[in-house]
Amino acid sequence: MRDDIKEILFTEEQISRRVMELGERITKEYSGKSPLLIGILKGCFIFLADIARYIDLDCEIRFLSVSSYGFSSVTSGKIKIEKELDFEIAGRDVIIIEDILDSGVTLTALRNFIQERAPSTLKICAFLDKPERRQIPINIDYRGFECPNEFVVGYGLDFAERYRNLPFIASLKPEIYS
Ligand code: IMP
Ligand code: MG
Repeated sequence: MRDDIKEILFTEEQISRRVMELGERITKEYSGKSPLLIGILKGCFIFLADIARYIDLDCEIRFLSVSSYGFSSVTSGKIKIEKELDFEIAGRDVIIIEDILDSGVTLTALRNFIQERAPSTLKICAFLDKPERRQIPINIDYRGFECPNEFVVGYGLDFAERYRNLPFIASLKPEIYS
């Protein structure tokens, strides 16, 4: 697995420091509230597990499963919400927890899906942001790192369901996904 890595972009130490900062910011900004964190599976699973432990609030944690990529590394431009909504959004302070913001297609569709269900407030927290790849402009409220325009894996992010367990963010050698 490690032989497939081209370069480590964000180390374990950088990640844990940044995730702690974001969690502490959310704790301050939502003081006295009980936010509803909605993790977007599967890529968010490590980020959400880590950041949740720095959010010192009475929050609720839920998940939605959305697919857009399948086994390809380019976006299909469509998303599918694969899990039925079995919780209430209306009136809640919702924070979407996403692994990476790339074209913006997934988050835009998701944001609309949640907005239609009348949350009291809605913010977006994305671990990585690749602004160069944006097709739809979208504002993120909490961002871990700006990521170069490269396909990356690790810390929950996969290529064909592999590499999610790498503790850092890395780019892959081009021969792996071409
Ligand atoms: P968007 O709809 O193009 O913004 O894509 C967002 C989704 O694509 C993310 O939730 C990821 O699952 C996936 N994705 C985008 N870029 C990468 C990457 O570099 N590595 C792994 N998954 C990615
Ligand atoms: Mg994803």
